[in-house]
Amino acid sequence: MSEDFKNVLKSNWKRLIGEITDQMRGFPPPPFEKPCDRGRELVSLPSIDTLLQRYGQKTFVDVLKGRKSRREFKNSPMELGELAYLLWATQGIRKVVGNTSFRTVPSAGARHPLETYLFVFRVTGLRAGLYRYLPLENALVLEKEGDFRKPIVEACFGQKFVGEAAVVFVWTAIPYRTSWRYGSASYKLILLDAGHVCQNLYLACESVGCGTCAVAAYDQEKMDELVGVDGERELVIYLAPVGKV
Ligand SMILES: Cc1cc2nc3c(=O)[nH]c(=O)nc-3n(C[C@H](O)[C@H](O)[C@H](O)COP(=O)(O)O)c2cc1C
Repeated sequence: MSEDFKNVLKSNWKRLIGEITDQMRGFPPPPFEKPCDRGRELVSLPSIDTLLQRYGQKTFVDVLKGRKSRREFKNSPMELGELAYLLWATQGIRKVVGNTSFRTVPSAGARHPLETYLFVFRVTGLRAGLYRYLPLENALVLEKEGDFRKPIVEACFGQKFVGEAAVVFVWTAIPYRTSWRYGSASYKLILLDAGHVCQNLYLACESVGCGTCAVAAYDQEKMDELVGVDGERELVIYLAPVGKV
């Protein structure tokens, strides 16, 4: 393994002492949610108060005991409410203070560098296609309509269960959101952030009769292309198929 790869795992905090970051230069922070073109049709999601009356009643200990990677899913569709609950559990916004969002997951410096995309295959009330979650609006925006099961399995090196899910969560990182403040210490921080998000997905799935499996074995170029990101300013870093179990 080259030193470059290993260095990502190390704390680069000391290097940061000599660095001038864009925050220090007085540059404005990038938005914590990727902007969405005006006029795009949004799918509103149920409010979290409504969702919590219906979902997530299992005890914390039962959820922890049940958590495991699940690669077999029922054919039945997921409800839109279930999906909204999982989105809230993974990236939902608790409060906004100035230019900073605070969410259901922690993030280094509350920079929240991730965006959530969904390849929807079987969710009641949604057409099949690629969507993006807008946590501020608690809504989805349709990016591309279509059946992406085949290309997504190909982009995951033939892992069939990914195409058998009801929906596939795909997280991209926008590194500048974190590097604006943390410069070369950012890469490790972004990866740590992603781990928290996926663990919340595992636990939230378990609490509503769904299952998931983290997936890091994917083809970077193919997945970036499928999601429609440039692989530099924004790139896919992790994914997780979800379905009823
Ligand atoms: C970072 C990460 C990447 C993973 N990538 C894959 C993957 O590409 N394919 C897969 O089938 N499982 C993947 N897994 C799931 C692991 O295989 C699984 O967590 C492990 O076998 C332990 O099983 P458990 O989650 O049921 O406890 C991944 C898990 C993590 C945390």
